[in-house]
Amino acid sequence: MDASGFYAATEYGRLMVQNVAPLMTELEPEDFYLLSGIEQGMRFSEWVATEKIPEFSRLTPENVDYRLDRCEDRGLIERKTIQYQGFKLTFEGYDALALHALIERDTIEAFGAPLGVGKESDVFEVKSYKPLALKFHREGYTNFREVMKEREYTSDKDHVSWQYTARKAAEREYDALEALYPDVSVPRPIDQNRHAIVMEKIDGTELCRTKLEDEQVVPILDLILVELQTAYDEGYVHADMSEYNVFVNTEGATIFDWPQAVPTEHENSDELLARDVENLVGYFRRKYPHEIPEIDTDVVARTIADGEFESVETTP
Ligand SMILES: Nc1ncnc2c1ncn2[C@@H]1O[C@H](COP(=O)(O)OP(=O)(O)OP(=O)(O)O)[C@@H](O)[C@H]1O
Ligand SMILES: [Mg+2]
Repeated sequence: MDASGFYAATEYGRLMVQNVAPLMTELEPEDFYLLSGIEQGMRFSEWVATEKIPEFSRLTPENVDYRLDRCEDRGLIERKTIQYQGFKLTFEGYDALALHALIERDTIEAFGAPLGVGKESDVFEVKSYKPLALKFHREGYTNFREVMKEREYTSDKDHVSWQYTARKAAEREYDALEALYPDVSVPRPIDQNRHAIVMEKIDGTELCRTKLEDEQVVPILDLILVELQTAYDEGYVHADMSEYNVFVNTEGATIFDWPQAVPTEHENSDELLARDVENLVGYFRRKYPHEIPEIDTDVVARTIADGEFESVETTP
């Protein structure tokens, strides 16, 4: 067995990102000037030369030196010393900037427990006037192919910008939630900054962890398909539909995780809708084989696109 081959296959997997919330009280306003100065510099190159940081951050060179050490000690920035000395933000530094902005805007008052770790995100409970959910997107960190596509973004040819990829994903998800809420049962969008979105916290259990009563199976499947139909009518296909992205509770079902949603004008949207329906129905079929009737999922998908879906039991 070749150990290096094994590592090659996993090295782009999900890396741990430390929770920066406990650091927030130690950081001073000028630390955020420094971080946001480095963020600005990173639009031009992956590593921001130390001598450029005073200008970007509007701090004196002495103050910059002091704060570079503070922020490096806390894992918010990373230093390189080959060719020239430069710095870049870590994902933790980017998290700190987003959290700071959301706190300044009074979107968030307190930080809570993790709600979920996805393949491409970290989700935490946060509090304001009520409990909310904060999702940090990590796309550029996990999906190497996606990162490669974004390579053109910076002037520095080899500069792979995970910030850009993660921020775009957050913006796409937030836009979809804004378009769909409240007609479709999705978490209410509250705010967005950089790669973070704040939304309503959903109480319930993921569909994958739910054991439905026999008589609930078809009504719940119908309910979710009707939500997909409303979303389609509002111009979106989810495109990552699965039992992991649906919450069920006593009030019904809520569909979350929308960053990859595709507008219905998109040429592949009907194919993606058919795949969503197939994924969902396939799950129900495997888990509840005796409750699910014979279903032609392509017909169901077409019925949804036509806005005429009511139940899998009445769809031919
Ligand atoms: N609004 C919310 N309220 C409560 N919990 C949430 C909320 N949004 C997400 N979560 C929790 O966080 C987890 C990850 O969220 P989400 O599915 O949006 O991220 P993801 O990284 O795209 O996941 P994956 O790609 O693994 O499906 C969910 O499985 C869920 O447990
Ligand atoms: Mg998910």
